[in-house]
Amino acid sequence: MTNDELRLISSELNKYLPKNGKLAKAMRYSIFAGGKRFRPILCLATAKTLGCSAKKILPFACAVEMIHTFTLIHDDLPAMDDSDLRRGKPACHKVFGEAVAILAGDALNTLAFKIISSQPEASRVLAESLLTVVEGQAADIESKKKKISVSGLKKIHSWKTAALLKACVRGAALICGAAPKKIAALTEYAEHLGLAFQVADDILDVTATREKLGKPVKADIGKGFPHLIGLERSRKLAADEKIKSIKALVGFGSRADSLRQIVNQYVLS
Ligand code: IPE
Ligand code: IPE
Ligand code: MG
Ligand code: MG
Ligand code: MG
Repeated sequence: MTNDELRLISSELNKYLPKNGKLAKAMRYSIFAGGKRFRPILCLATAKTLGCSAKKILPFACAVEMIHTFTLIHDDLPAMDDSDLRRGKPACHKVFGEAVAILAGDALNTLAFKIISSQPEASRVLAESLLTVVEGQAADIESKKKKISVSGLKKIHSWKTAALLKACVRGAALICGAAPKKIAALTEYAEHLGLAFQVADDILDVTATREKLGKPVKADIGKGFPHLIGLERSRKLAADEKIKSIKALVGFGSRADSLRQIVNQYVLS
């Protein structure tokens, strides 16, 4: 993805976010802390694949990034993963306190749905996916306390991470007026991409440094794939899922090249 696209996403987010007050400051702090913008970029690449303009998709892409950032703010809270660093900076609650961090998350979530309220189909897709993410986060917390199977952990990863990536492609495709068959192929792509992405995140949690990731490492030890099946098999699983995601794009030809590029650019393990 180009720097122009990243700039476009940031300038659009800047337009939507409130300007004044402590809550606005906390929302802006987390949104502009330096995230990769993986999900809005996925929305834009979907539009490109379908021959639809970036402009049409931008409000939805911004809404997804707001939702994602809200889930990260809450994910880092002491009651959840208790992480002190996010996107290379102190976590939102470390700077603004827990109450403001919770409310900044609530506000980002609400603002996201406000800005896409004129797009009911895409809004429904996003709302459904967020319900799945929340289920996944609940199951993730529970999973620390019990032994879990490979298929059980895949399910949690699909819920907490792949669901929002599926919403990116499905919502963007609906806004672009794509046919159901195309939406189904894109959904399949995003499901595998999401699984690969979260398995890679589990791997990096074990192998990378705090400086490189901009968030605490060894934070998910005891509940990720490396713990369950070892590093090598986890790497194989991520690689297999990457292949499956690319395979799902076969019907799109070269128009889906940006979606293919995303797989290799964002899933590093
Ligand atoms: C972090 O997502 C949460 C996971 C699903 C692993 P990203 O790795 O996309 O985080 P940012 O947006 O770049 O901070
Ligand atoms: C978080 O998964 C997924 C969300 C829905 C926020 P993780 O807890 O593994 O994400 P990181 O490692 O904190 O980014
Ligand atoms: Mg978590
Ligand atoms: Mg976490
Ligand atoms: Mg993690």
